[in-house]
Formats: sequence, structure tokens, C-alpha cells
Amino acid sequence: MLGKANKIYNAKAIILYIVYMNSNLIGIKVNGNGTSKYINSKVSQSPLSGISDRVFRKLIRRWAPDSLLYTEMIYASYLEQGKSELKLKEIIEEEGPIGVQLYDYRPDAMAIAAKKAEDAGAFLIDINMGCPAKKITKKRGGSGLLLEPELAANIVNKVSNSVNIPVTVKTRLGWCENSSDTLSFALKMQSAGAKLLTIHGRTRQQQFQGKADWEKIAMVKEKISIPLIANGDINSIDAAIKCLNVTKSDGIMIGRGSLYSPWLVGEIDAVLKGNESFTLPSLKEKVCLILEHLQELLDCEGEHGLLIARKHINWRCRGFPGSTELRHQLMRSSCPKEAIKILENTIVSL
Ligand SMILES: Cc1cc2nc3c(=O)[nH]c(=O)nc-3n(C[C@H](O)[C@H](O)[C@H](O)COP(=O)(O)O)c2cc1C
Repeated sequence: MLGKANKIYNAKAIILYIVYMNSNLIGIKVNGNGTSKYINSKVSQSPLSGISDRVFRKLIRRWAPDSLLYTEMIYASYLEQGKSELKLKEIIEEEGPIGVQLYDYRPDAMAIAAKKAEDAGAFLIDINMGCPAKKITKKRGGSGLLLEPELAANIVNKVSNSVNIPVTVKTRLGWCENSSDTLSFALKMQSAGAKLLTIHGRTRQQQFQGKADWEKIAMVKEKISIPLIANGDINSIDAAIKCLNVTKSDGIMIGRGSLYSPWLVGEIDAVLKGNESFTLPSLKEKVCLILEHLQELLDCEGEHGLLIARKHINWRCRGFPGSTELRHQLMRSSCPKEAIKILENTIVSL
């Protein structure tokens, strides 16, 4: 049964790869102020606050050895004050390219934090200009910077002058439909020193509602000279190919799709590279992965790890026979030991 599924998958991969052959490069070159980088993949995993921690990144990395992954966004003022440093120290032991994402409205704090991140081994520094959360925008960070393009440019400029590695910006189409001039904002960030732009195809007003507008991302791609990564609603191979074709972007970024399928970034990367040996995890492997994720979170966080794991269980325990019952059992489990036992019993039964 699974052999047949893999054959269908491989055939699909080949067809999609042929479709994709009109776009030639496999990776993305990103310039820096001294240290330029090459990402050997067009597919990246987005920063996800409260999610893209070391344990999550390790999971994504298993299938996506070449892809650019990101830390959760880190408040630069905290790094400046010597806090949150664990989030930087973690990346030293990790394999593959990891971008450190920073947010703040203070250019000096951002420059100091960026230098610390570079020293800790960041592959690049990404500046968050897209987070819609009120607690961030009221501090003039995240998408709040869309309302202050001069300040945003000043931040990019200061950060670029403080590090050798590439400085990039992740943003949205604008603050709201009426106020958004995506292109002039993008060009301003490019002039200020950004070496790559990621655009989530929604405005801040939309938050995560409606559909990501890839056509608008395409309009920006036509006019800027730095590489562009398209983001928003790419949650399958088909969507990835379609988005690349519509936007003509240099790469794509997966966000929420990986919550359900942590292999998605690697799966899409394999298709784009024509790597036919890529195999999806079996049902048993999927359940083993949930157990492994839980155990790693417990190792890092103690009993609190179960609470974090519940979020992931809720996403990952879906779409296979018995997943609903398993999910409910795990959600009801009162302690880590019980959750581990439920998973172990399920694995034995598969
Ligand atoms: C729970 C959650 C946390 C997020 N945290 C961040 C973050 O820290 N930095 C950032 O730039 N974007 C963050 N985002 C936005 C995503 O990176 C991405 O741009 C967005 O989800 C659209 O992509 P998708 O449709 O593939 O999910 C977050 C999104 C979600 C749902």
C-alpha cells in the first residue's frame, strides 16, 4: 500500500519537476557586507514565534538539510541587555543554515544584537517587519515599521553596517490595503542595505485572514534587484510550484504547513531538485516522531514540555486512521508518563 503511494508520489514529483525546469537555479545567492552566502535550496522554513525553537528546527532539518531555517523572533533590546542569549547559543550546535530573526524599533539595539548573533554563528540576520501582534506593533516593531519607512530604513542601514553576513527583511504587503505601497517600501529596504526580501502576501490588517496575494508579490519581484522569497499559503507541492510560477520569486517560505507536516520543506525541496529518493514517513514513523518530539521537549523544558507538546500533538495527530482518538487521549493525558505510554502503545499496535 505504502509502496504504491510512494510510486504515485515519485511520478508526481517527476512531473512537477519537469514543470519547474523553466526556472533553472537550485539555490539562492545572498550578498553580505563581506561575507556572502549561498543557500543550497529555494525552500525555507519561516520563523514562528513560540514554535520554531531548537527542537522544532531539528525536526524540520531531518528532511531539509540544505534549507534556511530561522530562530523565533528575538527582541533586540533583550540581547543588548544580555538576556535571551540562550536562543543564540543554541544555534552553534545546529547543522545547516540558521537565520536569526530580530525585532525592535531602536537601530542601535538592533545593531548590537545583530553583532552578537553574527558572533554566535548566524547564517544571516533577518529583520522582522511583518509581525501583526499588537504587543509588538505598539512597541513600533514588526509590521509597525511599515508605518515608519524612514525608521525601518535606518534600522536596516545600522544593522548592515554592524555585521558582515547578509541582512534581510521579512515583511508583508503593507499595513492595510489603502495604505500599502509594497513596492516603494521594498525599494527603500533594498537601498538601505537589505540583501534579500521575504514578503508574506497579506497586509497587517488581514493578519492571517483571506488568501495570500501572490500576484502582488510578483509585482515587487519584477522591480527589485535583490532576491525575493514569497510566503503565504504554501502548504503543498502544488502550491509551491504555483507560487514560484506566479511570483517568479527566487525562493519560497513555508510557515504553518510544517506544523502539520514537518517534512514539507524537505519534500518540496526534493521535488525542486528532482531528488526521487525522498520518502515520506510511514504512519508508524509519524507517531514515533510525535513521541520523539514530546521526549525532546520534556528533556529541554521538564514537565512544562507536555504543555508545549500539546500544541504540536494537536497539529500532527490528524489525517490518519485513529488520529482523532489518539489526539483526544493525548490531550486528556494528565502527566508526561501517561502521554508517553499512550504513544508507545499506539506504536506497538501499528
Ligand atoms: C504562530 C505563528 C507565529 C509566527 N511567528 C513569526 C515570527 O516570529 N516571525 C515572523 O517573521 N513571522 C512569524 N509568523 C508568520 C509566518 O512566518 C508566516 O509569514 C505566515 O504564517 C504566512 O505563511 P504561511 O501561510 O505559510 O503560514 C508567525 C505565524 C504564526 C502562525
